[in-house]
Amino acid sequence: MEKIGIVGGGAMGSGIAQVAATAGHPVVVYDIHESALERSRVKLASIMSRLVEKNKISDREALSIQQKIQYTQHLEDVAKADLVIEAVVEHLEVKQKIFKALDAQMAPNSILASNTSSLSVASIAAACEHPERVIGIHFFNPAPLMKLVEIIPAVQTDAATVSSAISMIKNWGKTTVVAKDTPGFIVNRVARPFYGEAIRILEEGIADVATIDWAMTTIGGFRMGPFSLMDYIGHDVNYTVTETVFKAFYYDPRYRPSFTQKRLSEAGYLGRKAGRGFYDYTNDKEKLHPRKDNQLGQAIVQRIVVMLINEAADALFWQVASRDDIDLAMVKGVNYPQGLLQWADEWGIDHCVMLLDKLYEDYREDRYRCSPLLRRMAKNAQGFYSAKT
Ligand code: NAI
Repeated sequence: MEKIGIVGGGAMGSGIAQVAATAGHPVVVYDIHESALERSRVKLASIMSRLVEKNKISDREALSIQQKIQYTQHLEDVAKADLVIEAVVEHLEVKQKIFKALDAQMAPNSILASNTSSLSVASIAAACEHPERVIGIHFFNPAPLMKLVEIIPAVQTDAATVSSAISMIKNWGKTTVVAKDTPGFIVNRVARPFYGEAIRILEEGIADVATIDWAMTTIGGFRMGPFSLMDYIGHDVNYTVTETVFKAFYYDPRYRPSFTQKRLSEAGYLGRKAGRGFYDYTNDKEKLHPRKDNQLGQAIVQRIVVMLINEAADALFWQVASRDDIDLAMVKGVNYPQGLLQWADEWGIDHCVMLLDKLYEDYREDRYRCSPLLRRMAKNAQGFYSAKT
């Protein structure tokens, strides 16, 4: 069984190590901080005993998974692996230094991957003598529970690296999608309006937080409303992703972050973990009073979903990923009730174009520009999955 190296024993590194060990691989986790390694070990032990309590795994399996993972503060130990997945802090210089050192020590046919969410894989690979074996393997948090993994070949990556990475991650029981090395890859790009448009509706005073969340879950069928979800993710994390994507797209107004979320972040109202975000978790009353007006709810859902559809269509237009992978990514990565391109077909492409054009007409903002792909498809009476809609 191939040996797996993990660089960075934080939230993601620990989760990925658990996934690889559960799939039967010997794993080495490297971190510069002894305390991080200790935390990782303790956390895994507690996850394992919980799984045993719930009868998900046996005592023996739990022990075997833990025994498969070795913790180290020596990078050389990781360099012996067949596949290394790096999950250290999101700083290009730190990642480049690690990649350069590993690239110099690792066997020629081994693979070097990064779990980066926002840096370009090309910029990390550029630090290596052999950038053709560098690839993005992007897990979602928590890695053991989230089924989706985005595979991101850099311009330098060779085809053999891509196919080996895909087959390895599939063997770990994950669903893989392939994304172009562009900001936000698939999920973090296509999902932006779920947050941004919901905040916009709030800021315009069309509906309050509880009403928008109620509409999106009850009428839209989403598992969590946008405000509950942002509170869950944390405004520091969610705002940073939004800002990073905005900057990376050369300040395209479609991805512009909101002051509302920035202020929450600045105030320390980071969401659930702080006891307060859009909701006050010390006083849950506010959450209980959405305005359950079906007409208002439908209008809200329609506006957010059509913006998501536009984003998904544009990702396809720019060949960020295939139609199937874009839909799969949103269903498996963020639990959307159905794929957005499928949704577009259901509503009818011409109807989506009409809704977007209406928003554009109302606001005259570039944010609401319709994707050229949707417009072309409407003109040709095409659907994403069917010839005609
Ligand atoms: P974290 O802060 O929990 O863990 C980072 C770990 O890296 C820490 O244990 C730290 O001690 C270690 N570290 C820092 N510098 C190091 C170095 N030079 N050598 C070795 N170890 C070093 O961070 P988290 O959340 O696990 O994120 C790690 C990576 O995964 C980042 O690139 C992030 O963008 C990406 N990611 C994070 C997700 C999330 O939801 N947290 C989701 C998907 C990707």
